[in-house]
Amino acid sequence: MNTIECIKTRRSIRSYNDKKVDRELLKEIVEAASFAPSWKNTQVTRYIIIDDAALKNRIAEECCSSSHNGGIIQNAPVLVVTTMIRSRSGYERDGSFSTPKEKGWQMYDCGVAGQTFCLAAHEKGLSTLIMGIYDEDKITKILEIPENQEVCALIAVGYTDEIPAAPKRKTVDDLITFR
Ligand SMILES: Cc1cc2nc3c(=O)[nH]c(=O)nc-3n(C[C@H](O)[C@H](O)[C@H](O)COP(=O)(O)O)c2cc1C
Repeated sequence: MNTIECIKTRRSIRSYNDKKVDRELLKEIVEAASFAPSWKNTQVTRYIIIDDAALKNRIAEECCSSSHNGGIIQNAPVLVVTTMIRSRSGYERDGSFSTPKEKGWQMYDCGVAGQTFCLAAHEKGLSTLIMGIYDEDKITKILEIPENQEVCALIAVGYTDEIPAAPKRKTVDDLITFR
């Protein structure tokens, strides 16, 4: 698969089959995602990979039941919780912010890494879904996420038999202005 094909055929998948996901494959995908660019190469993104069904389903029930995400997580064999190390991306060494975006750059970095993870997963035959709706406080408590880290997003991972059509995209003319 070439890069453009990988970008264009990756889909958000909300229905997974029972096939287990090999841990070594997940490691390969995180290794690929580690090549994502980041603020001053701070590499603040971390991946908590949950393939224990009881823990995954507990997160689905206790942290994601307010949306359809709970059911999706129960159905997916793997849930990845991405976190970011606080106070590095977008910061100077003395702890001051480098730009007016302040701590916004850590979300940017974690987003770039997340998409790189999803593209690498797609190339390896896996499907993913990035999820932004969840109870962050509860996830932080259940996973005992250390004080110096913050949850960024959840990513469901697994194999699917159903690949939906791509949702409609804006036209290039809608997206671009040349100056
Ligand atoms: C930051 C972010 C948060 C998202 N949160 C959710 C979510 O909570 N639940 C969900 O079903 N999809 C979620 N999505 C998936 C989007 O709905 C999806 O990417 C979009 O509809 C385009 O479809 P595609 O990814 O198949 O191209 C999220 C995507 C992103 C990038």
